Amino acid sequence: MFCYRDNTFYCEEVPLADIARRAGTPCYVYSAGGILSRYRAYDEGLAGLEHMVCYAVKANSSLGVLALLARAGSGFDIVSGGELHRVIQAGGDPARVVFSGVGKTSEEVDYALARGIHSFNCESEAELALIDALAARRGVRAHFSLRVNPDVDAGTHPYISTGLKEHKFGIEIGETEAIYERARGMRNLAAAGVSCHIGSQLLDTGPILEVVDKMLALAERLRSAGHAIRHRDLGGGLGIAYREGDQAPDIGGYIRRIREKLEGKGLAVMVEPGRSIVGAAGVLITRVLYRKRTANKEFIVVDAAMNDLLRPSLYQSHHEIVPLRRTGFGSVVADVVGPICESGDFLARDREIANVAPGDLMAVCTAGAYGFVLSSNYNSRPRPPEILVEGDRWRLIRARETYEDLARGESL
Ligand code: LLP
Repeated sequence: MFCYRDNTFYCEEVPLADIARRAGTPCYVYSAGGILSRYRAYDEGLAGLEHMVCYAVKANSSLGVLALLARAGSGFDIVSGGELHRVIQAGGDPARVVFSGVGKTSEEVDYALARGIHSFNCESEAELALIDALAARRGVRAHFSLRVNPDVDAGTHPYISTGLKEHKFGIEIGETEAIYERARGMRNLAAAGVSCHIGSQLLDTGPILEVVDKMLALAERLRSAGHAIRHRDLGGGLGIAYREGDQAPDIGGYIRRIREKLEGKGLAVMVEPGRSIVGAAGVLITRVLYRKRTANKEFIVVDAAMNDLLRPSLYQSHHEIVPLRRTGFGSVVADVVGPICESGDFLARDREIANVAPGDLMAVCTAGAYGFVLSSNYNSRPRPPEILVEGDRWRLIRARETYEDLARGESL
């Protein structure tokens, strides 16, 4: 995917500096091969079992990325009407879409019903009532799963942990059976599965596997009560290596453990991976603008900022930053900061990093997931372009925004 050859950093067969020169900086670059190989690790790992890999669109919703996955046969996990629209624009099949999220509006539910999505992952009884009413108006039957909150600690960053009682997500496991029971009375709903998602960037798969057991037992109880439970949605959450030397779970190994538990249970499996498919397959390229020293700190000022990649500022997350051309100039300990007027605008802090000079290009690594999608126009900065590399070819899948784009829809 990304590697050095003769001290030059490549994405597949293309030197990243060539792309930066043509597309300008900052820019996001994705490896199509990297995305597809991870999608296939899920899909092929589940071969022979009835299954659907529903890529979590929120991780990276660029049409070029969605189209790549749609062509490979992927399903999609969406959390808004906008994401459904993108999936359809990219050629995705609505019949392979699950709709998750705690706050679906009636417009969004109606749009999803009109397009005939696979099912809704529901998070409250009030939401079930809304879907039932809207399905009745359209004369259709909507399939649903309840998103269960299994009260398991995912052991990840508090902002992206979702499976504990204190979180807004899901329905407490003790209450779910009563709700499936009451939903029998809703004539335009059909129970189809059980679902859960306990958090993101999980480096230990133990908690997810623990949840699989709890959910299988629940599915069994529901079936014996006469509910037509056909699938089991395990959510996403598999973590990736952000630091050199991090041990991330291997997709194939994780899927094998799940298979062992699900084989022969007569349930289709659904998974909703986002980060583990696109995260490591993307980088953000940036150019060094200035070097600056204060009394006790060294700064590398670059042209990418928190508006382009929010994760370091929001979650204090670590992204490796490497030069596109390795030189023999040693290293420094510095903060890598952007041009935004906030002290919280940094890409790395107190980091040992290549001793780069103004004009040099660097790659902020593992930026393919929750990178561009969390970007903004803060400080009236046009958002960067996105590029997809396939072998020795690359193409723009999103153009850099212009100053005109910044004020689109505004009036005096
Ligand atoms: N399914 C549901 C219901 C989710 O809420 C999420 C992520 C996923 C699947 C995909 O999870 P993944 O496989 O990507 O871990 N902005 C944060 C991550 C937020 C994740 C939200 N939900 C970050 O940059 O780390």
